[in-house]
Amino acid sequence: MTINEIRQKYLLFMEKRGHSIIPSSSLVPEGDATTLFTSAGMQPMMPYLLGQKHPLGTRLVDSQKCFRSGDIDEIGDNRHTTFFEMLGNWSLGDYFKDKQLEWFFTFLTKKDEGLGLDPKKLFITVFGGGSGVGKDIESIAIWQDLFKKVGLTAKEGERIFAYQSNKNWWSRAGVPENMPPGEPGGPDSEVFFDFGENRLLHEKSPFKNEKCHPNCECGRFLEIGNSVFMQYIKNEDGSLVELPRKNIDFGGGLTRLEAVTNSEPDMFKISSLYPLIQEIEKISGKSYSDVINQPSMRVIADHLTAATFLIKDGVFPTNKAQGYVLRRLLRRAAVKMYFLTGNLEILEKMAPISSLVCQFYSPIYFEIKKDIPVIFETIRVEIKKFGFSLDKGIKELQKNPHIDGKTAFDLYQNYGFPIEITTEILSQMDIKIDTNQFETEFEKHKELSRTASVGMFKGGLEDNSKTVTAYHTVTHLLHSALRQILGNHIGQKGSNLTAQRLRFDFSHPEKLTDGELLQVEELINKTIAEKQAVTREEMPKEKAIKEGAMAFFGQKYPDIVSVYTIGNKNNPFSKEICGGPHVTNTEELAKIKIVKQESLGAGTRRLYLQFV
Ligand code: ALA
Repeated sequence: MTINEIRQKYLLFMEKRGHSIIPSSSLVPEGDATTLFTSAGMQPMMPYLLGQKHPLGTRLVDSQKCFRSGDIDEIGDNRHTTFFEMLGNWSLGDYFKDKQLEWFFTFLTKKDEGLGLDPKKLFITVFGGGSGVGKDIESIAIWQDLFKKVGLTAKEGERIFAYQSNKNWWSRAGVPENMPPGEPGGPDSEVFFDFGENRLLHEKSPFKNEKCHPNCECGRFLEIGNSVFMQYIKNEDGSLVELPRKNIDFGGGLTRLEAVTNSEPDMFKISSLYPLIQEIEKISGKSYSDVINQPSMRVIADHLTAATFLIKDGVFPTNKAQGYVLRRLLRRAAVKMYFLTGNLEILEKMAPISSLVCQFYSPIYFEIKKDIPVIFETIRVEIKKFGFSLDKGIKELQKNPHIDGKTAFDLYQNYGFPIEITTEILSQMDIKIDTNQFETEFEKHKELSRTASVGMFKGGLEDNSKTVTAYHTVTHLLHSALRQILGNHIGQKGSNLTAQRLRFDFSHPEKLTDGELLQVEELINKTIAEKQAVTREEMPKEKAIKEGAMAFFGQKYPDIVSVYTIGNKNNPFSKEICGGPHVTNTEELAKIKIVKQESLGAGTRRLYLQFV
């Protein structure tokens, strides 16, 4: 079974059990400044998990595109990828533990409706208690019952294992102690697949002499699904209190499910990634079966997949935030290709790999004709530019191999030369560097990447979120103002909000003149001054589109959508399909100013706006 088949099977399985299928949200969260990327299926569901009514009811299912930038340096082993799809189902105060665990077990083990996995290979973890919440004995009992039905005795310590909150508690911020006030979370129960004790993986593992258990990370067990019992919220006083409605938040790694269905412990041999590996073999003339080549080939395949999806969702290579992460992915892939082959010219052959990604995931995530040229060109230009620096940087290193940490870091800054490539080249040349100083610089570098990653969760979120909501409403005003002034060819390609500014990408062939910028600014400020109402209603997608509601470029929407209207309903200033949140009247907004304009190439422009 391929991931396309498994995705479909799971959506249907849950649809049959009363769930509405919703499309994946963008990898770049809209209206959420706490994180740069969507890294879990529940992220776009936050308002509903906290109590907002969802237009499609209390049972939802999807396959959400996810990107975990924190994992960039882990890529190279058999199981980690930065991009993946997370299958997810949610109960919004509807069913709870018993149905959730039963359905997931049925999906995993039944051949006709699910994956047909051997129950003997499944191992379970549950929450062992802590932070004032008791051990999850309910889940243990449910699991024992489910295994009994297939003729297996599931004893604790043999098939079911209880762990502390670092393993079996889920919230966006991790363990209960790290959750900020207002954050929901709860105990969880994970299912692991056992590849068997005698697998090569375990034999090679540093853990091979220790007793194996699901979380020992030796490579024998692979986590394939996580049912979160989201029933708590962090209080202002630091305690955990019960949510008014208990939710289920389930997430399962789609690629991992294909891997276990085919008893294949190497994630890079599955249907979406193996064609890329084969292409990389062809381009480089190196073989994937030679284990020495595997880490590099895996990095190239993963990073190009992630880059393809990020560009599709409106990210461009830059030196900041999401753009910085994309740039780092492409550069790292290029470096790996260079080391794999020792050949700089070969970098030119990398961009076409992205077309394989588009083809595999079309038509769900890509429109071949429209997307391939843009993605191809963005990757080609970025890798080409970096190729020149790579060449210069390598020559500099060869000329002057006595390099201290500071110089190594300067190489990064001056040539965009990742510190990792400097280390790799130096180690190949058998040259030592001043590690202390190097470490200091490297820490700074890591700090830069960290802020550009999921770890952006910070206190002060509450204050910021009001401003972000206000900027979100300005996004709609801007979108509409651009169309009114420049024409209806304008399409939003992406946006990014922080408490400091709003960034907006849109299609337009040329630079906006100062006059045009002023007109846009004035139109928005006029609308703000007019104290226009902002209203939300739910309606079928077709109706919304028929009524002229604007939709996000390339985005898929559920059948029932929420629509935000600014101004008079009969002749609104703006009408957009959008999940919110927004202010309720434009009088809550300050005046705005367009502070910067940039070109992103390929007919795309970027504006920055700030409240003044
Ligand atoms: N939100 C849970 C996770 O990401 C399902 O593992």
